Amino acid sequence: MPHPAAPFPMTRPRRLRRTDWMRRLVRETRLSVDDLIWPVFVVDGENQRQPIPSMPGVERVSLDLIGQLANDAAGLGIPCMALFPYTDPSVKTPEAEEAWNPDNLVNRATREVKRQVPDIGIMLDVALDPYNSDGHDGLVRDGVILNDETLMALEKQALAQAEAGADILGPSDMMDGRVAIIRQALEQNDFSDVAILSYAAKYASAFYGPFRDAVGATGALKGDKKTYQMDPANTDEALREVAIDLSEGADMVMVKPGLPYLDICSRVKREFGVPTYAYQVSGEYAMIQAAAQNGWIDGQRAMLESLGAFKRAGCDGILTYFAREVATLMAEEAAEL
Ligand code: PBG
Repeated sequence: MPHPAAPFPMTRPRRLRRTDWMRRLVRETRLSVDDLIWPVFVVDGENQRQPIPSMPGVERVSLDLIGQLANDAAGLGIPCMALFPYTDPSVKTPEAEEAWNPDNLVNRATREVKRQVPDIGIMLDVALDPYNSDGHDGLVRDGVILNDETLMALEKQALAQAEAGADILGPSDMMDGRVAIIRQALEQNDFSDVAILSYAAKYASAFYGPFRDAVGATGALKGDKKTYQMDPANTDEALREVAIDLSEGADMVMVKPGLPYLDICSRVKREFGVPTYAYQVSGEYAMIQAAAQNGWIDGQRAMLESLGAFKRAGCDGILTYFAREVATLMAEEAAEL
């Protein structure tokens, strides 16, 4: 509890806001480049930089350019990239077999980054949606998303990703039991050092739209994801999900989306005290960029304020499409000092 303050005029909170140096001196939380995980979309082909209209400033890049991107990120001090594949519709199937193809796009991208920039972390999503012709994170039969059958597919996918050199696996599918299956498979196959950052509290959100454009899942998705992703109205359930994932062997947990769910971030961090991350998702990014492009808000300040909010809520880090921009800004500011 805050110390009871002496009444005005003895107490004047504005004394501590008077100057920049004083504000810096009393600042409680700070964003650092060490807090950033940068999601990057990869695409087949050569010399490709495909803009994603619903995510101004974000591009899909081809594998011949990914090394340079990783190099830039490492140079800026960004600890980790999360790679997402734009999968050609022709390789999407109802069984999503491409997910465990050792040479699928994201696995090739991982090898390429590891070859060129071994010191940057690589995180990969474990979920079937980029590969499933129904656009769902799990296998679908007669309109039902199958849990246990999906687990077998996720296990194969996770092992192929670990084999490709992924450092962190992010189960983002919200099937029950996935963390246990993946952790067990990693232990049994000499991948005991691979970390799991589970999308523990992942909500059935309207804010994922632009991401689905980016990975080419928009047209594919049949129905919605409400039978596996969480109901936005729930809080206690998020804590149960986190507890389950930790008990199954997750090393770190994520709340997703970010800004609309800061209460969940805060509660998860307070109750479990484990490394806790938020995903500032595509729709959140798009809102800030769209408003900034219209001149309605100051984009750079809104970016910094939104990222700072995650630190205030207790997050240890943030997956954000702003990672490169904010890291560049921080590097420039550091150079000025
Ligand atoms: C796939 C996945 C999604 C996101 C990350 N992994 C989309 C979804 O669940 O539909 C969303 C990320 C974003 O919107 O930025 N399981």
